[in-house]
Amino acid sequence: MATKSITILAIESSCDDTSASIVRDGRLLSNLISNQDIHRQYGGVVPELASREHHKEILPVVDAALKHSGVSLTELSAIGFTQGPGLLGSLLVGTAFAKGLAWCLNVPLIAVNHMEAHVMAHFIDDPKPQLPFICLTVSGGHTQIVLIESHYKMQVLGTTRDDAAGEAFDKIGKFLGLDYPAGPEIDRLAALGKATIPFTKPSVDGLDFSFSGLKTAVMYHLRDQVLAEPNYIQAHLHDICASVQDTIVEVLMEKLVKASEVTGIKEVGIAGGVSANSHLRKRFESQGARLGWRIYIPDFQYCTDNAGMIGITSHYKFLHQKFSDQSVTPDPRLKMMPL
Ligand code: KG4
Ligand code: ZN
Repeated sequence: MATKSITILAIESSCDDTSASIVRDGRLLSNLISNQDIHRQYGGVVPELASREHHKEILPVVDAALKHSGVSLTELSAIGFTQGPGLLGSLLVGTAFAKGLAWCLNVPLIAVNHMEAHVMAHFIDDPKPQLPFICLTVSGGHTQIVLIESHYKMQVLGTTRDDAAGEAFDKIGKFLGLDYPAGPEIDRLAALGKATIPFTKPSVDGLDFSFSGLKTAVMYHLRDQVLAEPNYIQAHLHDICASVQDTIVEVLMEKLVKASEVTGIKEVGIAGGVSANSHLRKRFESQGARLGWRIYIPDFQYCTDNAGMIGITSHYKFLHQKFSDQSVTPDPRLKMMPL
């Protein structure tokens, strides 16, 4: 007798991307994302506007994900959604939508931790990491080194004590007059420059990170240089970007190397929006080759926020019957717990 397939609709709405994906038996059939351009003019995500945009977008995006996959609502086995961490107003939209739809269809609900989902993005395509595996998850809101012992057991080995790496890129980009999010633009501009400015690397014990000192150091550097040379930022933009990027990437890589040494694990991945950074990818590849790691980088489309990663996490949770009931609520500060 053929076993019934597991077909999941997954929804991601933790920040400023509304996304829906259909995952059948652990394979992505669709993964659609609607980006909210409205925040660009404010230089950062405006939580109230993000929530309103999710309201507008969620139905068309879910509809498109279903159409794109050729799956109908009646074929769904479960609804997965991002419970947190993220912006409360944004999470509320996805959570309420998922709960309502699951109730109407009488199918289980699966609550997913956004940070676990970034790690699980490695299990969308082949080759998949062997377990145990360590992953550097770097996004606009988080910077963590996570130990994955099984698909259901994750442990945070190190985390940022203040700003996330992506936040450092974005805030420093703002000083440089770049649009939000500045990470991709700094990446592009850095490729045209040289890392000539020796910004001090933050020193934090163990596997934790800190980026707020770098932000302040760049701010004072720019202030002092602009006093002497008013056109300093425009004249040296490429080198400033390369120096900032180099400092952030070196800090990330140092801690990742340390995590591998401490755990003895050589299955190593990077995930999250900042893992799209070309310099980080290059350094990760070269360090990995030097240290005999097997390295994993999710396909670019699965690095930034997307519902595909929520879908793959939901699939594994489904296999282990990790369901939520209708009393589940969004949690902006949801901690990463063993699944
Ligand atoms: O994971 P993500 O899409 O959303 C969050 O959960 O935060 O990550 C977005 C972050 C932003 O801070 C953005 O500037 C950064 O990822 N980012 C990059 C690059 N692409 C995205 N940072 C550096 N270089 C990039 N190429
Ligand atoms: Zn994210």
